[in-house]
Amino acid sequence: IRANQISEANHLIIGGCDAISLAKEFGTPLVVYDVAQIKQQFQDFQEVFQENAVDYAVSYASKAFANTAMYQLVQKMNGHIDVVSAGEIQLALHAGFSASQMTFHGNNKSREELTLAVKAGIGVIALDNFHEIDLLHQILAEQQRSVDVLLRITPGISAHTHEYIQTGQVDSKFGFDLESGQVDQALQKALQEPNMNVLGIHAHIGSQIFELAGFEGASEKLVDLAARWQREYDFETQVLNVGGGFGIRYVSDDQPLAPQDFVATIIQTIKKRTRTLGLRTPAIWIEPGRSIVGPAGYTLYTVGARKDVPGIRSYLAVDGGMGDNIRPALYGAAYEAVLANKPEAPASEIVRIAGKYCESGDILIQEQAIPETKPGDIIAVLNTGAYGYSMASNYNLNVKPAIVFAEGGRATLVTRRERIEDIERLDFNLDGSQRS
Ligand code: LLP
Repeated sequence: IRANQISEANHLIIGGCDAISLAKEFGTPLVVYDVAQIKQQFQDFQEVFQENAVDYAVSYASKAFANTAMYQLVQKMNGHIDVVSAGEIQLALHAGFSASQMTFHGNNKSREELTLAVKAGIGVIALDNFHEIDLLHQILAEQQRSVDVLLRITPGISAHTHEYIQTGQVDSKFGFDLESGQVDQALQKALQEPNMNVLGIHAHIGSQIFELAGFEGASEKLVDLAARWQREYDFETQVLNVGGGFGIRYVSDDQPLAPQDFVATIIQTIKKRTRTLGLRTPAIWIEPGRSIVGPAGYTLYTVGARKDVPGIRSYLAVDGGMGDNIRPALYGAAYEAVLANKPEAPASEIVRIAGKYCESGDILIQEQAIPETKPGDIIAVLNTGAYGYSMASNYNLNVKPAIVFAEGGRATLVTRRERIEDIERLDFNLDGSQRS
């Protein structure tokens, strides 16, 4: 946290709002976003393209965090979005987001989802496999419509990140294989479809990546493919979409580049390679999710029970856990926390911060240095804005938290806390009859 995030009362400040007041007003667990920080990151991405004078789109990967307010904020920032399900498409449409600024991704888009996308007038469909080309062919014929497409390739780049979130390696479920000629078959097939307008190529190599090398390698492979397609099929690539994946700082030891610096390198790599190969520089699209919302998100929890295991460690339990943030349990992801009601007090011990779920693996932070705490204190886990709420569950029938957008000292409830009634609404009695 920054120095200006501590109030005179020695409370954590988020978006100009006192975190303790937010916890009182909205309850905990509470997800709070610093809206100005989201906007700033958007602008930083947009500026790096403008400085380098290339056509671009900054497309927010909304799987990282999607709600109505977020879609409206992205629209306000002139961003595009990446959507991966009927749910994301519908929520974005209902939020007023223009279909023309959406790119539809996924390795198994259903007929219903593709139909919805086409009917809505989706901007781009990222074609992932041959089955999908066939499906889309039928749908476009039925609907008498056409659509812009990108061909997603697996560039054969192994990004150094957790195995579950790597996507660019050869052995991947996503996209057309590059080396075996699949990509060429896909291009030929798509070019034969009068209703599909092939804009260009897409590759996403993975997520939470710290090294530049993977992005440079993927960028070069994309340009090389574009150059070959120009030669062999006289096909001009108008768009290269390099995906997202820019790593963020979760804990003090992480030292990633600024997200826009990854993008600067990608732009320069593409420009240099296209110049060398005598191609026109195409538009460059990026699809960051985590780097836009991750650092802007905080989760506030109330401290409850404590267990001291003599000679081993102390467990400090909070009122949320793996239901609102599965990342530590799923990926061994590391986080840091501050005591939001006295962020400046010196740490006096190291504790393990545990959730309330009935599972030993429900640990949010393995080792956190913290001042003395008592039940009722508020802990803020930092950098929880990406893939936290969006991967939340109702495990143990706990309800999902509320979400607040904080900006300039104003707090807006943008997603209300779930209630058990919301869950019960889906249920019927044992005999199948409606519940009373
Ligand atoms: N584009 C495509 C095609 C993607 O598959 C993804 C993420 C992104 C963009 C955005 O990547 P980002 O900038 O957010 O790294 N649940 C995992 C992350 C899964 C990422 C899936 N795809 C986690 O919590 O770490």
